[in-house]
Amino acid sequence: MIDTSNENKDRQDLTQFDEIWLFGYGSLIYKVDFPYIAKCAASIRGWQRRFWQGSHDHRGTPDNPGRVVTLINVDKQSGALADNQACVGMAYQVTAEVFEHLDHREKNGYLRHQISIDLENGIQKQGLIYIADEANSAFLGDASAYTIAHQIFNSRGPSGENKDYLLELACSLRSLKAEDDHVFEIERHIHGLIKTASEVPV
Ligand code: BEZ
Repeated sequence: MIDTSNENKDRQDLTQFDEIWLFGYGSLIYKVDFPYIAKCAASIRGWQRRFWQGSHDHRGTPDNPGRVVTLINVDKQSGALADNQACVGMAYQVTAEVFEHLDHREKNGYLRHQISIDLENGIQKQGLIYIADEANSAFLGDASAYTIAHQIFNSRGPSGENKDYLLELACSLRSLKAEDDHVFEIERHIHGLIKTASEVPV
């Protein structure tokens, strides 16, 4: 299994920031198991959330990986997305110590990057974000929404059912009034699979 935690330790000099902001676009929106100084809705530009990263340690296993989100640069997509389209998530003002915990939690292929974050009050902050790019060995890449939903429906790991990750994320995005066709289309398929599985054969 990959472990990016050591690599992440040295990627940024955190003393360069007056305030340290972290942008969450996946489980960091709803699983806030770290202390923070401030929190608000926020967005980033030029990136799109995608269920393209394998989860071998949280929502799946090495033999049966689940799928979790990463970010894909819109420039690398086939021109289908407008450049100014925003990815909505949550921003947290944190202390440097928080990254010791998060680097370990998100060690399966995610690297910390610096990014501009648009806070909901219109203020822009330089902050940090975790991205798992296509070069990491847990990257699964594109598939149809149904194929992704099927894999999610059939995966579970130490952190629980993969479908609960998807459903909690979709619910959080709805609360943030975020548009995300990719997540909501997979969610529709998941509801269909749940319904089919619960139907008693006659
Ligand atoms: C996030 O919610 O920002 C996040 C998702 C996956 C890995 C690390 C962070």
